[in-house]
Amino acid sequence: MSKFMDWVDARFPATKMWEEHLSKYYAPKNFNFLYFFGSLALLVLVNQIVTGVWLTMSFTPSAEEAFASVEYIMRDVEYGWILRYLHSTGASAFFIVVYLHMFRGLLYGSYQKPRELVWLFGMLIYLALMAEAFMGYLLPWGQMSYWGAQVIISLFGAIPVIGDDLTQWIRGDYLISGITLNRFFALHVVALPIVILGLVVLHILALHEVGSNNPDGVDIKKHKDENGIPLDGIPFHPYYTVKDIVGVVVFLFVFCSVVFFFPEMGGYFLEKPNFEQANAFKTPEHIAPVWYFTPFYAILRAVPDKLMGVIAMGAAIAVLFVLPWLDRSPGRSMRYKGWISKLFLLVFCVAFVILGVLGVLAPTPGRTLLSQVCTVLYFAYFLLMPFYTRLEKTKPVPERVTG
Ligand code: HEM
Repeated sequence: MSKFMDWVDARFPATKMWEEHLSKYYAPKNFNFLYFFGSLALLVLVNQIVTGVWLTMSFTPSAEEAFASVEYIMRDVEYGWILRYLHSTGASAFFIVVYLHMFRGLLYGSYQKPRELVWLFGMLIYLALMAEAFMGYLLPWGQMSYWGAQVIISLFGAIPVIGDDLTQWIRGDYLISGITLNRFFALHVVALPIVILGLVVLHILALHEVGSNNPDGVDIKKHKDENGIPLDGIPFHPYYTVKDIVGVVVFLFVFCSVVFFFPEMGGYFLEKPNFEQANAFKTPEHIAPVWYFTPFYAILRAVPDKLMGVIAMGAAIAVLFVLPWLDRSPGRSMRYKGWISKLFLLVFCVAFVILGVLGVLAPTPGRTLLSQVCTVLYFAYFLLMPFYTRLEKTKPVPERVTG
């Protein structure tokens, strides 16, 4: 075996890469359960790709056959139902895992210097993931696929001068048609997965260049032993590869429960109108995007003007990109920040969840007012950050991790 590895290593950096990224990658020893979600995101990504490839084998991307081909997968293709439920549940699981992964970043200031690029690559992944989910949702060609896409694509029409031409260019037709379905299929199964995979590689390379942050936000590279190994670091393999298995087991338990017992999740993972084939002449009574988009949809609807609403929705995502430059705190982790930062993060999370709920419901004047309040709170967290992080009283950050 070692002779074989010598032969490989003389031609390809296999052992070098194994050591650099696993057996000699020293990660802080105080990771908690919130650190499971990076590896879980990888697991879900693999699940989506594998089940996606198999679904593609039996799916027909045409307006005439797409809906029926999904029913064919569900009823006639052997194990087709499980492939589809793994994929549809995987889409929602991806966003749950990624939202918790991002929340960990906010909590421990993982976006702060020197991890700005880790955060930026993460945000690009998030954008690509939203595009991937949006395009995937058109493919089953149900009523919500069709009308959801109709609402979102028509938003581009609000852009002055080029709006109308742009929507037509995206659809490839005067209305959403088989042509739109076909191009979304190409982007969903080929282009975007390549982009996401590439970005994930860059995300992890950037992280391993600077090293992982931790719940204390302490720089473990400051204190090293005589061999240059961080005193508070442990090799990723075997310590965290084994620990991550615990997270994987718990995750799979919950994930499989949903796949086998509640694949529609009460209409949140698979929406009810999508069990009816797309019909351009019949608008569903109530159009709502899938739950993971609803916070941004609520921000869009909170603003009375269409163009301003689109701008607000775009800004809600754009502001996350500049987060590393908004936080002026001397420490990274929430453990050592002041109470104003803690309060703002709490208010931000609550506002985000309320917006998510409001985005599912039909608007009423009371709900619109609440969504306006939550939109203001959402932006306040970011826009006031340069001030409250500088002014508040913080606790001293310890030299070493506290365990
Ligand atoms: C497909 C989606 C993603 C995958 C597979 C992924 C994977 C990973 C992995 C494996 C790690 C190292 C383990 C860990 O710290 O949990 C990591 C760290 C990190 N990720 Fe992601 N990630 C994804 C999306 C994102 C997004 C959307 C963001 C935020 C915008 C993000 C921000 C971060 C940050 C800041 C770290 C460093 C955390 C620390 O050191 O405390 N990631 N990611």
